[in-house]
Amino acid sequence: MEKLHINLDEKSYDIFIDRGIFNEIGKYISKVYKKKKIVVVTDTNVDKLYGDKLLKNLKMSGYMPAKVVFDAGEENKNFETLTEVYEKIIDSEIKRGDLLIAFGGGVVGDLAGFAASTIYRGIDFIQIPTTLLAQVDSSVGGKVAVDTTRGKNLVGSFYQPRMVVIDPDLLKTLDEREVRSGMAEVIKYGAIYDSEFFDYLLGKEDLKSSMTDIEKIIKKCCEIKAKIVEKDELDLGLRMILNFGHTLGHAIEKYYNYGKYTHGEAISIGMYDITKLGERLGITKPGVSDKIKEILKKYNLPIEDEVEIKDLIEIMKTDKKNISGILNFIFLSEIGKVEIKKVGEEEITNKLFK
Ligand SMILES: NC(=O)c1ccc[n+]([C@@H]2O[C@H](COP(=O)([O-])OP(=O)(O)OC[C@H]3O[C@@H](n4cnc5c(N)ncnc54)[C@H](O)[C@@H]3O)[C@@H](O)[C@H]2O)c1
Ligand SMILES: [Zn+2]
Repeated sequence: MEKLHINLDEKSYDIFIDRGIFNEIGKYISKVYKKKKIVVVTDTNVDKLYGDKLLKNLKMSGYMPAKVVFDAGEENKNFETLTEVYEKIIDSEIKRGDLLIAFGGGVVGDLAGFAASTIYRGIDFIQIPTTLLAQVDSSVGGKVAVDTTRGKNLVGSFYQPRMVVIDPDLLKTLDEREVRSGMAEVIKYGAIYDSEFFDYLLGKEDLKSSMTDIEKIIKKCCEIKAKIVEKDELDLGLRMILNFGHTLGHAIEKYYNYGKYTHGEAISIGMYDITKLGERLGITKPGVSDKIKEILKKYNLPIEDEVEIKDLIEIMKTDKKNISGILNFIFLSEIGKVEIKKVGEEEITNKLFK
């Protein structure tokens, strides 16, 4: 069993990582919650696979669980679903002081976490992430949100869970494409923060051999994310480095209306492109982009797309969160080290895809 602590003063919490931990969930919940009523919020896919089992486990530990299920998919991470989720939570007689469990991938974690942060002006919640992306990224750090018709994650808050319980065995039912997509975020952590970890991932034979060590890999990612979040909980500076590959990646996702690539695939292309640009601008040491390419190919992630740079620039400029209109990029100076630089439109046009 791996245990990590995120130090955020009175909002501090533990992350537990272990195969099969899901079956002993009651034992862990009792560390932070002394009452009986719990509402589990999940999506239709996760519910079908694990919903009954979770409720049974909770009941066996003496809890009184209710369950709220919404349709799986990013397209449901919106206010309409949120309203239904609020109403079902209220109807299941959950009161202030009771507990919510967000049980699913990043969509569930973000929406259920936002519901927890707002219902009755806030109730405690626990994250049980079920996708690789959620286990290494979205369940840790307290960012919760829903999408609006104007863009992704535009309404949300910072609301830390009381605990994160990660069971890598839950990944066995996940599509291989989703696993590979999560690996893109895993690679990101090595690239921005830890060259030794990067080399370790590069040294693995393939995805399958990484999955045999996935517990250690998840722990490493959570450790890195924890360090970054501890220093910059509210995303005012350092946390920005987690966006490596994301400015371009988001634009590519959006260009294809979120239909062509998963998030991880899009940031994979974004990481490779920005590293190539960094080399051309003299920010990144020569040879780094080849290493990025090698590792992404190893995990069968895409590295290029035929979209035109002018189209991506237009999308990046109109990004609702890009307040200044300036294109801020996270570059690697070398593997494990970042440099944040503003880049002019012309430099991108002339150098990015050339
Ligand atoms: N809050 C943050 O810091 C943060 C960080 C990164 C991403 N996100 C958000 O995370 C979301 C993406 O998360 P995601 O990639 O986990 O997508 P997701 O939650 O949509 O899950 C992907 C698919 O896998 C299914 N699924 C989940 N667990 C499964 C399992 N164990 N077995 C089989 N199927 C399973 C889901 O039902 C869904 O169909 C986005 O909305 C993104 O904005 C948030
Ligand atoms: Zn991401």
